[in-house]
Amino acid sequence: MAQLEQIAAPGSEWWRSAVIYQIYPRSFADASGDGIGDLPGITSRLDALKDLGVDAIWLSPFMTSPQRDAGYDVADYRDVDPLFGTLADFDEMLAQAHARGIRVIVDLVPNHSSDQHVWFQEALRAAPGSPERARYIFRDGRGTNGELPPNNWESVFGGGMWERITEPDGTPGQWYLHIFDVTQPDFDWTNEEVREEFRSVLRFWLDRGVDGFRVDVAHGMVKEEGLPDYTPVADADSMGGGEENVPYWGQVGVHDIYRDWHEVLAEYDGDRALCGEAWLPTLKQTALWVRPDEMHQTFNFPYLMTKWDAKALGRVIRESLEEFGAVGAPSTWVLSNHDVVRHSTRLALTADNPQGEGIGPNTPDKPDTATGLARGRAATTLMLALPGSAYLYQGEELGLPEAMEIPDEFRQDPTWFRTDHERYGRDGCRVPLPWEADAVAFGFNDTGASWLPQPAEWADYARDVEEGDETSTLSLYKQLLAARRKHGFGSGSLVWEDAGADAVAFRRGDVHVVANLGTKPVALPADATVILRSQPFDGTALPVDTAVWYTTA
Ligand code: GLC
Repeated sequence: MAQLEQIAAPGSEWWRSAVIYQIYPRSFADASGDGIGDLPGITSRLDALKDLGVDAIWLSPFMTSPQRDAGYDVADYRDVDPLFGTLADFDEMLAQAHARGIRVIVDLVPNHSSDQHVWFQEALRAAPGSPERARYIFRDGRGTNGELPPNNWESVFGGGMWERITEPDGTPGQWYLHIFDVTQPDFDWTNEEVREEFRSVLRFWLDRGVDGFRVDVAHGMVKEEGLPDYTPVADADSMGGGEENVPYWGQVGVHDIYRDWHEVLAEYDGDRALCGEAWLPTLKQTALWVRPDEMHQTFNFPYLMTKWDAKALGRVIRESLEEFGAVGAPSTWVLSNHDVVRHSTRLALTADNPQGEGIGPNTPDKPDTATGLARGRAATTLMLALPGSAYLYQGEELGLPEAMEIPDEFRQDPTWFRTDHERYGRDGCRVPLPWEADAVAFGFNDTGASWLPQPAEWADYARDVEEGDETSTLSLYKQLLAARRKHGFGSGSLVWEDAGADAVAFRRGDVHVVANLGTKPVALPADATVILRSQPFDGTALPVDTAVWYTTA
């Protein structure tokens, strides 16, 4: 770990300012050649991430799973799915990352397990009211014969949130709750046995040397007592980003769990960290997740969801710094992940696009690729100048757009199936990465197999093409990460500046940062010396959809 200690400034925890790169293991690099990425694939490509300049990686789930929700349905929390390799492959990947000074965060999925988890299988075989059933949320149905679900809740992936089982004696039985797919039963977090099991799972990975956890659906683990009926407002974000008082999102009981986990992590050296995935309606509420004795970070989804609008963007940044600052936590910044439309496409959408809806061949008014890329690059240029920790999602450093033309027969997101093909879901942001333009599967593996088809035009985005081009998105990201580190932008504060109503502008020390979100160029001072720009421009006017870092004489 010697290299790692040199990264964080003395006295500061690394996660406060780190740039953390999300690896979606299925789609990063595939050493086995079966068309699905794996841990040895990740190990083989770590040098590219070292070269990019990230401080840490977060891996989406690679644990044993039937893959009904791409690994977010875990059947064994203490083992690696054979698709991705073995525990020894994990240990090797971790050691190789650490040897390069890159920390490693793993995904923990505590809201629900797979229906193939041994506990759920035991629950199905046991009787109503048994300790085995009590690990999950089983209830009798309503109606004369229990034929109606216990309440009216709707699953995030579409359809109802309850599934009726057949009891071991063959009779129609109880119902179990699943916020997500029917194969993802929710644990009952009021049960101490569940709590103890997850303390032990945390220790299992901490003992192996992981630097922290990204906690899946951190805001869903506790449900309101009595499970009251609830009807979401029309067009509500299904993950809870838009509404107050939802009986299965953001219940106060979750905070006890995080306090407990905080203590578990504190038993270990090296500033291990928890980052919560919590889609909450306000930043004030989001900041409660990162009070000093709870999680260390939480994703700033209000920032991610902000449209390409200067006023809205300025407001969300201001509010983030205020609200997270008030609890002594860094803000995080994030624009893309495996659940949302890639930001180099999303920022050019003309209609709203809630989390997880996806876009596809029949989406009207498809966003323009060039506009999207320009905005995506400008947004990142602004983001990486902000104080706090930033999350990047694999492929955004190549400027990858959302894959919008995936043929229906390849789609795998449960959202697509549970909504009867009404919502495309998230496959478009999960397509395997292009590494080499001239190789089969663009170098994702050496067999040409790919679990989702890669668009032919992705040859232009391949890493080896972008490596050699100083105007490429990859070159921009490398410059941004190096300059961010050099100027210490991950910590400290900013001073707001005024560059007109259509721009977001602030100063970090003597570096001025401006993004133009309007429709006319924004004038820069005559003595501006450009350090970095999201795309080439001449003269002293900042073009639309462009961001710049500059100093003055
Ligand atoms: C989180 C994950 C998402 C998954 C869901 C259910 O939102 O990011 O990919 O489908 O949880 O586990």
